[in-house]
Amino acid sequence: METITINTGAAVSKILLGEKLSNLALYLPKGKKTIIITDNNIKQYYSQYFNGFDVIELPTGEENKTLSTLDYIMARLVELEADRTSFIVGIGGGIVCDTTGFAASVYMRGVKFGFVSTSLLSMVDASVGGKNGVNFGGFKNMVGVFNQPEFVICDFEMLKTLPRSEYIGGFAEIIKHAAIKDFSYLEYLEANVEKALNYDLQVLQQIIGDSVRIKAAVVTADEREKGERKKLNFGHTFGHGIEKLTQMPHGEAVAIGMCLAAEVSVKKGILSLNEAQRLKQLIVAYQLPVDLKQNKTLLLNAMKKDKKREGEEVHLILLKSLGNAEIVSITYKELEGLL
Ligand SMILES: NC(=O)c1ccc[n+]([C@@H]2O[C@H](COP(=O)([O-])OP(=O)(O)OC[C@H]3O[C@@H](n4cnc5c(N)ncnc54)[C@H](O)[C@@H]3O)[C@@H](O)[C@H]2O)c1
Repeated sequence: METITINTGAAVSKILLGEKLSNLALYLPKGKKTIIITDNNIKQYYSQYFNGFDVIELPTGEENKTLSTLDYIMARLVELEADRTSFIVGIGGGIVCDTTGFAASVYMRGVKFGFVSTSLLSMVDASVGGKNGVNFGGFKNMVGVFNQPEFVICDFEMLKTLPRSEYIGGFAEIIKHAAIKDFSYLEYLEANVEKALNYDLQVLQQIIGDSVRIKAAVVTADEREKGERKKLNFGHTFGHGIEKLTQMPHGEAVAIGMCLAAEVSVKKGILSLNEAQRLKQLIVAYQLPVDLKQNKTLLLNAMKKDKKREGEEVHLILLKSLGNAEIVSITYKELEGLL
C-alpha cells in the first residue's frame, strides 16, 4: 500500500493506493454515523462490505448526474438523520464520487466525506483534485464545488469487475498524464502494455501511482485551474466536442482528441511528426481509437458550444515534446485552417 498526500493549503487529502475496500472502517471517524452513497452496479458486486452502514443507492449513468439526484440524496440524508458530525463515503466511479462530494459539501453547509474509487478513470482522475459537481442544462459539471475528500481508497482488485470498455477508457487519461508531464512514464506505458491490459497488480500500482502523483502535483500548484491545471485538458477540448457530436464514450473521445491536438502541434511546428506518431501508436496499443470519422467542421461547431469557450478563441493544450505541454490560444478560424 502506498499513500499520496494532497495538501492544497486549505485541506489535506490522502490517496490510498492498493488499500482494500474491506479496510474501509479503519479510515472512518469513530462513534459517528457513516452513510455510504453508491450505485446499483457496485451494490450488486460489493454489498457484503456495506453491512452495518446506511446506504443511499443511485441509478447509474451520466443522465442521473443531476440536481434531481442531489435532491434525492438530501431527502435520504434527512430521513437517515445525518447531522454535521456524520461522515459520507462515495463508493463508485466518477459519477458517484462527483455527486457524493457535492452532496457532502452542501448538506448542512458541509460534512466530511471520503471515496472508494472503483473505476480506473476515477482512480487516476475523477477522485483526485477536489472537483465535485453535477451536470445542468445539458452542460457537464456545470454546478459544483471545489472540496477535497478526507481519503480516497483505490482497491485495484475492484477493477476486475469494471466493464472491460470502461477499463480501457481509463487508459486515455493515463496516457494523457504521461504525454503532458513525464516522458519516462510514457516509456513505461509503452513497455508494459500487455501487463497493464491484463490487470497486473504491480504494473497497476506503478501506473495509477504515477498518474495520481502527476495530477496531485498539478492540483496542489493550481487547485482552481488558473493556469497549470489547464494542461490536464490535453485532448479534452476536442474530446468534449467529439462526445457531443458522436455520443462516443469519454475515454475514446479523449484518445482521438489527443491525436488531433498532437496533429495541430505538428502543424504549428512545435512537435515533431515522429513524436506525434509515437503517441498515436501508444494509444492504438491500449486499444483506443485514433481517427475521427466525422467531418472536422462539424467537430468545430460542436466545440464552439462548449461552456469553456472564450469568445472567438479556444485554449488548446499542445505538445512541445512527449512529456511537455503548453497552453496555446488559437482562433477557431486558424484551427479550421490547420485541421
Ligand atoms: N471530478 C473530476 O475531476 C473528474 C475528472 C474526470 C471525470 N470526471 C467525471 O467522472 C465521470 C465518469 O466516471 P467513470 O468513468 O468512473 O464512470 P461511472 O461512474 O459511470 O462508472 C462507469 C460504469 O462502471 C460501473 N462501475 C464502476 N466501478 C465498477 C467496478 N469496480 N465494478 C463494476 N462496475 C463498476 C459503474 O456503475 C458505471 O456503470 C463523468 O461524470 C466525469 O464528468 C470527474
